[in-house]
Amino acid sequence: MNILAIESSCDETAVAIVRDGREVLCDCIASQVALHREYGGVVPEIASRKHIEAIYGLADQALEQTGLQRSDIDAVAVTYAPGLIGAVLVGVNFAKAAALALGKPLIPVHHIRGHIAANYIAYPELQPPFLCLVVSGGHTMIVHVKDYTEMEILGGTLDDAAGESFDKVGRVLGMPYPGGAALDKLSQQGDETKYDLPRSKPGENPYNMSFSGLKTAALNLIHHAEQVGEQLDIPSLCASFSAAVSDTLTPRVERAIRETGCKKVAVAGGVAANSRIRRDILAAAEKLGATVYLPPLSLCGDNAAMIGAQAYYEYLAGNTAGMELNAYATKSILGEKI
Ligand code: KG4
Ligand code: ZN
Repeated sequence: MNILAIESSCDETAVAIVRDGREVLCDCIASQVALHREYGGVVPEIASRKHIEAIYGLADQALEQTGLQRSDIDAVAVTYAPGLIGAVLVGVNFAKAAALALGKPLIPVHHIRGHIAANYIAYPELQPPFLCLVVSGGHTMIVHVKDYTEMEILGGTLDDAAGESFDKVGRVLGMPYPGGAALDKLSQQGDETKYDLPRSKPGENPYNMSFSGLKTAALNLIHHAEQVGEQLDIPSLCASFSAAVSDTLTPRVERAIRETGCKKVAVAGGVAANSRIRRDILAAAEKLGATVYLPPLSLCGDNAAMIGAQAYYEYLAGNTAGMELNAYATKSILGEKI
């Protein structure tokens, strides 16, 4: 089954064609990151306009690259939530028009389910059940993927997402948006023990976590240094910050492995590219005899291939939509019927 998949929830316009959920025939992306960089973050209105400009050409490019005809497409999938509402709407409307014109089913896909499904592409042998640490720009949670479309959220952030806090600290340090990758790179040359930053303490739900205290602590440290004219060791601050984020995430993943008895752990989302988090999750899983699934960096960030992968399983579960499909800025990953 060839699925034409569309992703436009943030600042990447993406179109992919994925066969049977696992085989990526093409994965086309038009990134707007450079454009938003000048504003220090995504400007929603600009994002929507750029999606409109890019999406038609990308869909043509996808067909051209694969040599497929329009008639070879069996279904159209799209990220319908969550994301910047204007941006998601562009993809949803394009997908609706395409499904209508082709006379093929329309499959709505939750963006975070897509991030999780990036692992199906990277690891053809991976099947649920497994645990997934989702760490993206806007979401941080530990999910028990019981089946392809059946999930349980064990816990997540109560405030900022991990990616958001990386980006905020990166911005204050003068790094180009989004700061996560640059901060990670600089941290390689730093001493992570140099700055003492807080780790989120377990609360009532031991899987829940918080990043706003850590973010504020880092920002206070930077502002204080500026005020008193102290020269900060930036690589070490980056390393200390990355360590604090990972020390918040990793013990919760360990707990999930122990408590659920599930010996497979996947990581998903843009922050899954972080070298410190990758290293720590690998070490934790090894200690507990669990297998780790870490998608390649190209599949960690937003792309449409992951949407096409999840769409196949949504289709098999009967989760298709009609022309009434709407876009949503927020929506739970727990598949309520659309
Ligand atoms: O999943 P994603 O592409 O977008 C959302 O769906 O939110 O994630 C983007 C996030 C940004 O916050 C970016 O700074 C972060 O992923 N990121 C990283 C790294 N690479 C990307 N954060 C930490 N270390 C990295 N190496
Ligand atoms: Zn994403």
